[in-house]
Amino acid sequence: MSITPLMPVYPRSGVRPVRGEHCHLIDEDGTRYLDFASGIAVNLLGHSHEGLIGAIQHQAATLMHVSNLYGSPQGERLAQMLVDTTFGDTVFFTNSGAEAVECAIKAARAYHQNAGEAGDASRFEIITFHNAFHGRTMATISASNQTKMHHGFSPLLDGFKYAPFDDLEAAKALIGPHTAGIMVEPIQGEGGIRPASQEFMEGLRALCDEHDLMLILDEVQCGVARTGKLYACEHYGITPDIMATAKGIGGGFPLGACIATEKAARGMTFGTHGSTYGGNPLAMAAGMAVMEAVANEEFLASVREKGERLRTRLEQFIGNYPELFELVRGKGLMLGLKMKMESRPFYVHLRDHHQLLTVAAGDNTIRVIPPLVIGDAEIDEFFEKLSAGAASFKVPEPV
Ligand SMILES: Cc1ncc(COP(=O)(O)O)c(C=O)c1O
Repeated sequence: MSITPLMPVYPRSGVRPVRGEHCHLIDEDGTRYLDFASGIAVNLLGHSHEGLIGAIQHQAATLMHVSNLYGSPQGERLAQMLVDTTFGDTVFFTNSGAEAVECAIKAARAYHQNAGEAGDASRFEIITFHNAFHGRTMATISASNQTKMHHGFSPLLDGFKYAPFDDLEAAKALIGPHTAGIMVEPIQGEGGIRPASQEFMEGLRALCDEHDLMLILDEVQCGVARTGKLYACEHYGITPDIMATAKGIGGGFPLGACIATEKAARGMTFGTHGSTYGGNPLAMAAGMAVMEAVANEEFLASVREKGERLRTRLEQFIGNYPELFELVRGKGLMLGLKMKMESRPFYVHLRDHHQLLTVAAGDNTIRVIPPLVIGDAEIDEFFEKLSAGAASFKVPEPV
């Protein structure tokens, strides 16, 4: 047998972390890495946050799992926290981002199809955007135009139409009698830390209002304080009808949520959706510990302030290497360093030669997405490693 016990779907690197300490990961051979990847925008409280650990330990010892057949005091508490701090009126808990997006897609379809006289059973299409990433389930790969994710999995789920990102007129042109909603990441993550423009986000909101469409925001990567607001839509001054959140919300514990207004959730009635694990007490304890830490103005302001500092220094830094870097973009502590060449070799170089973990993304970008609890020492260490990495980087010869 040549297949590995772990199904070989990831190109795994030689880094094999066994322990985390605040903003560092320690490999099984003892090597220390500065973690400016945060498990891809997940570990927003770092790796050894006492409050989060304590909440999980306490809940694990009290009650780990019960079925959604019973009342959920823990779920009610976290749902209330999300309702109190967002546009939403109601929440469905999931175990991942893709499941949160799935629930959002189902809610948008059900809004039209499961609303009796008020609805329209022929509406099912969702407009999405080029280079979006919404997850790896059949519906969520179908929701992305990225053909590399489709290969080998046909037929795709019907009902998605793709427009260029940030192109309002193109989105408008795709609206037809079967359109149910529009789904967008306010800041594309995998697509290369690309913030949508103000006009685009406001325009999508207006289009949805005009045509009775569900505006779905995928804030799986950009949500939960990452950009210095609890959710990125707040930067734009708009609210969605439905929002998917995950990653940071569990701080490392698998947790996601689909948040909706009462109107948008009108089709999600008894028996229409479910999940065995979704919203179990252990996940709820993790989510509440994270929300307690981040959903306050003091913490959010600190993210904005650190983000500004990091960005200013990154902008100065790239001036020293005009042959390598083009620009810095993003919001808060969701920053992207756009390179003038493919970004993966530089990301590998930083990882393997300077023990600095970042993430490569689309559009030749290096994602700089540290834990939100970084301090001056980690920012200084980041620039030491980044500068040493840029100075020693040899641009690979084109093949
Ligand atoms: C914007 C966005 N949506 C959805 C997902 C899927 O989340 P998960 O991997 O938890 O299923 C991701 C993951 O990277 C993401 O960045």
